[in-house]
Amino acid sequence: MSEKSDILFSPFDIGPLRLTNRFVMSPMTRNFSPGGVPGENVAAYYRRRAEANVGLVITEGVGVDHASALGAGTMGEHDTPVMHGEAALAGWRRVVDGVHAAGGRIMPQLWHMGPIRLNGTGNAPETLSARPSGTWGPTDKAMVPPAYVDQMRADTRPLTDSEIGDIIAGFARSAANAHAVGFDGVALHGAHGYLIDSFLWPHTNRRDDRWGGDLVRRATFAVEIVRAIRAATAEDFPIMYRFSQWKIQDYGARNADTPAELEMLLGPIADAGVDIFDASTRLFNAAAFEGSDMGLAGWVRKVTGRPTMTVGGIGFTKDLQSSFVEDTQAVNNLSMVVERFERGEFDLVAIGRALLMDPQWVRKVQTGEPFSPFRLSAYATLE
Ligand SMILES: Cc1cc2nc3c(=O)[nH]c(=O)nc-3n(C[C@H](O)[C@H](O)[C@H](O)COP(=O)(O)O)c2cc1C
Repeated sequence: MSEKSDILFSPFDIGPLRLTNRFVMSPMTRNFSPGGVPGENVAAYYRRRAEANVGLVITEGVGVDHASALGAGTMGEHDTPVMHGEAALAGWRRVVDGVHAAGGRIMPQLWHMGPIRLNGTGNAPETLSARPSGTWGPTDKAMVPPAYVDQMRADTRPLTDSEIGDIIAGFARSAANAHAVGFDGVALHGAHGYLIDSFLWPHTNRRDDRWGGDLVRRATFAVEIVRAIRAATAEDFPIMYRFSQWKIQDYGARNADTPAELEMLLGPIADAGVDIFDASTRLFNAAAFEGSDMGLAGWVRKVTGRPTMTVGGIGFTKDLQSSFVEDTQAVNNLSMVVERFERGEFDLVAIGRALLMDPQWVRKVQTGEPFSPFRLSAYATLE
């Protein structure tokens, strides 16, 4: 291990939860859970990472207990796991036990696809996709194929108050289930244009009731979900919240144009009971706002006072989107991570593709062994 990355192998506490180091497996949809039930192959997949010293595993997006949560999306979702029902919960218990036996920690990413779910798909195809104001958002900047966007273009109808209440209750039930099967916390998918994020963004939330309006009001849905999860689990059950500026509808989108706006949006969500924020960016070292080279995780930490996690581009020469079309190499760029870590920008470091393609990645950081090469073919298997 280079002396520099030593510091990332220090422990970190999220409330009562002690992580042995700062490396976290970023949530990655894998679609290997037929009927929503994670099997032995899924348990072995996560356990392998824990055995190779990943401090905290965040699972793939897991559908919350609501009929509109899952369906076809930009990645052609199918066989996506859920967090309700006896069979799925038994499957998750096996996943959790495996990670714990290996000395790791694990949180599920709770996911509701919202506007991104294609109507007429999923386990409950008759259920209308959930959109705060009936719109998918602007369709001219989407980072997905035009044929897909064409299917999303038509407006549906805004969610009713009681539908919003039902979805919040679904998040709370799913979090309670996660708590009951032994997960170490929950990670909320509040990013990328999916349901929670679609309430934050003015292009998808044009409501003028209590769920819409200025930045603080647009945060109300996220606030109520965090409060409901806190009430349904325990006072000290760790809640992580993933935030992003970018969306599937627009890679250049911004929920907050300035640090002051970021504070207006995330302050109430932090106060509702978030323990740690996950700032989802394509490149961890991209400047979030003009006038400073600080990344998004640094700004979120500064304006909320909460610990943060960074992500994006660690271990490779190209970010996620570029790596589909440009030549991409595995690389050890941790010295850049350490530099910002030492400046106090973030507390945890999430690794996505590198841990998908190389279960031993964190251990290799320690031993100095070379990383496995970048391989798009790894997406098709559960290695
Ligand atoms: C195959 C794949 C599936 C992903 N699925 C999810 C997901 O379910 N939820 C989520 O928040 N992010 C998802 N992401 C984004 C990753 O969590 C991560 O933020 C992104 O890959 C950037 O990190 P990296 O450069 O280390 O790969 C996915 C990424 C990949 C490659």
